[in-house]
Amino acid sequence: MSLGREARLRELGLWPVWRLRAAPAAAEGTAAPAPEGDAAEAEPAPAPLIRRGDASIARMDWDELKRAVASCTRCALHEGRTQAVFGTGDRHARWLVIGEAPGEKEDLQGEPFVGPSGMLLDAMLAAVGLKRGEGVYIANVVKSRPPSNRDPVPSEVAACLPYLERQIELIRPRIILALGRFAAQSLLMTDTPIGRLRGHVHEYHGVPMVVTYHPAYLLRNPPDKAKVWEDLLLARRTLAAQPQPEA
Ligand code: URA
Repeated sequence: MSLGREARLRELGLWPVWRLRAAPAAAEGTAAPAPEGDAAEAEPAPAPLIRRGDASIARMDWDELKRAVASCTRCALHEGRTQAVFGTGDRHARWLVIGEAPGEKEDLQGEPFVGPSGMLLDAMLAAVGLKRGEGVYIANVVKSRPPSNRDPVPSEVAACLPYLERQIELIRPRIILALGRFAAQSLLMTDTPIGRLRGHVHEYHGVPMVVTYHPAYLLRNPPDKAKVWEDLLLARRTLAAQPQPEA
């Protein structure tokens, strides 16, 4: 690690915790399940519902999609939100980071990950040389804040997923980083614990996807930063191993 990066991690309180351990990342996939919701919280995977309007979402351009999300009433979450949180960043990003749903601050500001977990997410990105908005797009599975920050229910996920799917088609990212149990399980339609989903390269809509812990979880469990560091390196390696697109 360069001195510059070490200094940056120190400043953010992430050094020396974020040190790569000797074990290869893939070995983590067989480790005992980590505690992020692994115990009893596993929700049933959302059914792949086809709703009225899905086909038109699949044809929208960026501006139409943004307007559709802003005025969306496809589930009851619109009733309690200040505003929908569409997503932010580089529309030609190679990295797509996907979280769960907006929290209170995100609902007020209209941007994903602006609270304390957003600061940690920015530090995670910086650790692998990335910056919000530069080659990175950040979005959530669900675009409207669930009341009291509860997990979205399967029907809310099903209503919102066509928006994320269209974002993926428009961005055409080269790697997806799924943050946390909820995003990973919803996208992969599984109730496998996150401790077993991380450490492997999955695929979502034809894009390689790496799963890691949610920054909010990490704030409560700092020792797991080492695992997140491994996941970030796995994502970076997966991206680097892809054939370069023709100029
Ligand atoms: N947590 C998330 O999953 N997404 C946000 O936008 C904020 C917090």
